[in-house]
This record gives sequence, structure tokens and C-alpha cells, in this order.
Amino acid sequence: MNWKIPLFESYWEEDDVDSVAKVIRRGSYWATGPEIEQLEREIAKYVGTKYALSFNSGTSALHADLLAHDITDGEVIVPSFTFISTANAVVLAGAKPIFAEIEDGSYGLDSESVKEKITNKTKAVMPVHYGGGPCKEIKALKEIAKDHNLLLIEDTAESLGAKINNKMVGTFGHSSMSSFCQNKIITCGEGGVIFTDMKEIYQKLKLIRSHGRLEMGDDYFSTTKEPDYIQIGYNFRMSTISASLASSQLKKINKIIKLRREKANYFNKKLSKFGNIITPFGSEDYYHVYQLYTIQLEDNKSREKIQKYLEKAGIMTKVYFEPIHLKTFYKEKFNYRRGDLTETEEISKKVLTLPLYPTLSNDKIDHIVEKIEECNR
Ligand SMILES: Cc1ncc(COP(=O)(O)O)c(C=O)c1O
Repeated sequence: MNWKIPLFESYWEEDDVDSVAKVIRRGSYWATGPEIEQLEREIAKYVGTKYALSFNSGTSALHADLLAHDITDGEVIVPSFTFISTANAVVLAGAKPIFAEIEDGSYGLDSESVKEKITNKTKAVMPVHYGGGPCKEIKALKEIAKDHNLLLIEDTAESLGAKINNKMVGTFGHSSMSSFCQNKIITCGEGGVIFTDMKEIYQKLKLIRSHGRLEMGDDYFSTTKEPDYIQIGYNFRMSTISASLASSQLKKINKIIKLRREKANYFNKKLSKFGNIITPFGSEDYYHVYQLYTIQLEDNKSREKIQKYLEKAGIMTKVYFEPIHLKTFYKEKFNYRRGDLTETEEISKKVLTLPLYPTLSNDKIDHIVEKIEECNR
């Protein structure tokens, strides 16, 4: 469908085009070029971890990370209110996702619910920082993980640059993942990164990412030496072309976040007159980067009505997220049922994500708000 106002637009400038063209024109090192390590150095510095490792998607990054932490069986506690990859990565690694409830604020994992789900099979807790907003209970979750000797792996796919009291999300756990898919804070089309301070995990990730190949210092494609392969591995590598674009995008992340926050604040102000709309969670302490601008309506009927009304006006909205535990694969494989997570199911019936992106004009926001007002009458 040709939307008058799409849900998102990827932000780019001419130097992004140049960054890609430069690698193409070089005519070499399109797969494993120096831009990859450059991106990894720069982004580790930005987030504040010792290591960052790039992947060809957030999903493959998360999958590899679980394998690096030896989570190949047992249980991992995840929210059901997230993109399917959070749970899929757990299944791909060989473990079982155990869904816990979210709290009705940041839509992050509810620490009380997490405590109830811990068993002697639990290996990790995987909170999601939803839609650019820091998970409100991340510190409590960290304590719980510590008390029960569990790994804490943060899914920050949507929240690069979000902070709690100036500490970046993605630095609370043993490792974390950010995505560069086209609707994320910065993007190179597809891509992902794992952040960690753990050298051992970083080294294992490198092997899993690239065929289990022992790196010898020389680029594989530029040496006559034959390396050894010491374990099984995937090709989960990001291409140099993508890394160069991601690196160029990273240079403008502060500008992108500033624009997103300005649009979100404008939306918040405009929507404050509606008694039946809850705007996204965020504060001085919980620094939101608004990868999504998700509102909450009073009930499912009013959510459906607004979504249909906006659709007719050519304005795209989306329900982020429908609970994963109610998707066919999870119902069939793990026997999850409606009613298993009442809070999550209830919230999911009422949320609606509105368009928000760095180049969205205030006029367009005014237009969206006018349409909501018309529908409310
Ligand atoms: C919460 C969450 N986790 C994981 C992913 C997976 O990232 P990717 O699309 O880069 O594979 C996404 C992205 O869509 C996401 O939103």
C-alpha cells in the first residue's frame, strides 16, 4: 500500500551513500574489510563496552550470543510482548522460552513475574528494552539474575542510545544485542551487534560467526595460508558494505535521537488533551529514543476504531506487539494458550504504534492528531 504517512522512513544523508560507494569502488574487501572492525571499535566506545561484534542481523547475533553463553538447553525467561526473534533465538539455540509478564509502563519484563517463572532449569533472563524505551525494572532484573546465578542478556534491538541515569541500555547484562534493520535507530538495511565486556564470550562469538574458523591475523580472502576450523559455525558475518554504512550512520546517531525525541515530545504535547490516550513512558532518568511511538487506548474497540480510521486516511499504524505465546508455532510446540499471560494479552489489545521518524514534519503530526480527534468525536 502507498501510505500518505508511512510508519517509518530510514534516515540518510549523502555521506551514507558515499560510505557505500567507497567500498564498492575499491573493488575488494566487500566481505571482510577493515570497515567492520572500525564499526565495532566505534560502536563499543559509543555504548561503553569492551567489545562489540557485528552480525548480518540482530536475530543471528542473538542466536550466536546464546550459543556463546552455552545456552543450548534449559529455559530462558523472555517477554511475550516483543518481536518474534527474541523467542526464536532461544529456540534456535536449543533452549525453551518461558514467557513472563511485562509491566504496564515501559512494557519491559515485570520482575515479580520473572521471579515466579524461575525453575532449576532456568539459565538466563532476557529483557527487552521496548521501542527505544529503557526497561523500567532492569536493575531489579539484574539483582534477580545475580541472586539466582543466571545470565542477563539484554535485547536492545530497538533501543540503541537509550539510557537509565546516563548509563546506556545494553551495559546492564552479561551481553546485549542491537539491530540495524531498516526501522531501527541507525540502520544499514540488515545487521546486528553484540556488546559484552566478557573476552571469552567475544572470542567464542567470533568462531560461531564465521564457520568456527581460527583467525590467524590475515584476512582469509587475502592469504594463501589455510586456517584451521576448530568447531562448527555459521556465516553470520556482516558485509563490509553494510558495516561502512552503519559506521556512517553511527556518526549521526546523536542528531537522529535528538530529532526522534523532538517529534515524540511534540506528539506528547498534542495528544495530552485526549483523556483516553496514554503516551509513551519516558523521563529525565529513563532516556527514551523512540524507535517506536506507541500509545495505549482504553480498550481494544477504540484501538481498532482508530487504526481503521487512520488507515482510511492513508496513515500507517501497527500493533507492536501481538503476544508471541499466541502465535501458532509457540502454541503448537510449547502448548501455550490464551490466558497464560493475562496482563500481556490485555496490554497488547490496547497498544498502537503511530508513525515516527526523524524527518516526520510537525504538520504531519498535526494531521495525524486531527484524524485521531475526528475519530474520537
Ligand atoms: C525486540 C527485537 N528483538 C530482535 C529483533 C531482531 O533483529 P533483526 O530484525 O535485526 O534480526 C528485533 C528486530 O526487529 C526486535 O525488535
